[in-house]
Amino acid sequence: MESESIDSPDMSNAEFAKALERVSDWIVSYRTRVGGLPVLSRIQPGDIEKALPSSAPLEGEPVEAWLKDLEDIILPGVTHWNHPGFMAYFGITGSAPGILAELIGGAINTNGMLWKTCPALAELERVVLRWYATALGLPDWFGMITDTASTSTLVALAAAREATGLDVRQEGLSGKPPLALYCSEEAHSSVDKAGLVLGVGMQGIRRIPSSEAFRMHVDQLEAAIEKDRQDGKHPFAVVATVGTTSATAVDPVREIAAVCRRHGLWLHVDAAYAGSAAVAPEFRWTLDGCDQADSLVVNPHKWLFTPIDCSALFTSRPDIFRNAFSLVPEYLRTDVRGAVDLMDYSFQLGRRFRALKLWFVFRHFGTRGIAARIREHVRLAQELTSWIDAHPQLERLAPAPFSVVCFRVHPAGMEEEPDLERLNASVLQKVNATGEVFLSHTKLKGRYCLRVAIGNLQTNLERVRRAYRLVCEAAGIPATGI
Ligand SMILES: Cc1ncc(COP(=O)(O)O)c(C=O)c1O
Repeated sequence: MESESIDSPDMSNAEFAKALERVSDWIVSYRTRVGGLPVLSRIQPGDIEKALPSSAPLEGEPVEAWLKDLEDIILPGVTHWNHPGFMAYFGITGSAPGILAELIGGAINTNGMLWKTCPALAELERVVLRWYATALGLPDWFGMITDTASTSTLVALAAAREATGLDVRQEGLSGKPPLALYCSEEAHSSVDKAGLVLGVGMQGIRRIPSSEAFRMHVDQLEAAIEKDRQDGKHPFAVVATVGTTSATAVDPVREIAAVCRRHGLWLHVDAAYAGSAAVAPEFRWTLDGCDQADSLVVNPHKWLFTPIDCSALFTSRPDIFRNAFSLVPEYLRTDVRGAVDLMDYSFQLGRRFRALKLWFVFRHFGTRGIAARIREHVRLAQELTSWIDAHPQLERLAPAPFSVVCFRVHPAGMEEEPDLERLNASVLQKVNATGEVFLSHTKLKGRYCLRVAIGNLQTNLERVRRAYRLVCEAAGIPATGI
């Protein structure tokens, strides 16, 4: 067969260099102006689909044309997580060293399925996770990088299921006693999702009540485990949360670990957000008792300035993960002695070079620099907390140990439901419509509240003041104290 004429199989390097310059100019310009863009996208569902052709171009187009559409069509549809006013969910940062690593990772385009398919990936992943564990004060555990905490928790709980000895791997769940999994009522929904995937079922997921400070009641955990045992269930794992999604509460991990030991249960710690705080020595307490866990997840893409996605999963029991997941088809067999093939420890085969961005982040900031930035975010949150606490018409609804503050507008005499919820929902809507900041909401013990999460490296005191002023303006109350 005759080959079609192709001028150049890919962009030539000369063309690429020019395009790279344009892209790098674009990235720098974006970083410069992002703070002035509306943080929350204002487009309507379907706008982008309508603005773009319904099929791919027949002939290739020049980079200028794609970049123009990026600017005119895509950018308005971006909610800017890298914006100093992004204070919803968890504030995050795709920092400059992380962006550089993403560019290089794309250029290398390696796949760390096996040690052999990219030794540098396999080994850098081990090295940076060791750095991370050391910086957090964790033991020198086995670690692997996944995309998200949802995946990390799923993989960890699959290992926990393997550790039961029920041999689900071989025999499936049919005919086995129903599994029971425990977490607090404040745990993230990714725990339930892991339970769904692993055949625990919603009925097997026990959400243990939490205290006024949103920490799991350990006595109720133990009572639930004992009751399940009596009822013929098979308790197998507890997920403790260090930094709950709504209020950033820290479960009493040491006590939970003691319960797990007494009952032979796997302890997984979800420290997705708050775990990174432990890089700062004064926040080492955050991970107290976590050395007793079987596995722990912490996300550099939450509070370690690493572009999404990057989640670190640590375990003291890698052999169990191996037993759960190792399965080597002929075409992947290797004979490299002493090599660790990361595919043996999880369900995924292909593996991005995520370690590169975590490495660049550590190299650029250093652990001292990371600690200083975390400290600054906490300081900003404390400033906000002090204004809220001093304001007669604002009410804080949870302790604020890290960089998240949960509060509501509460005029004297206003009824709990539905008036307070309606008022605060309307304040949130007005504040977010300004485009200057983006806050989110949650419910704590059934009470609707506004939630300010600080975690972007460009967020400063001025922006936090602005957020506070916008809330007060929207509520029609004076912005006192700042
Ligand atoms: C405590 C906690 N765990 C897990 C997750 C899920 O994180 P991911 O998006 O990385 O799956 C979140 C998300 O915010 C979280 O707050």
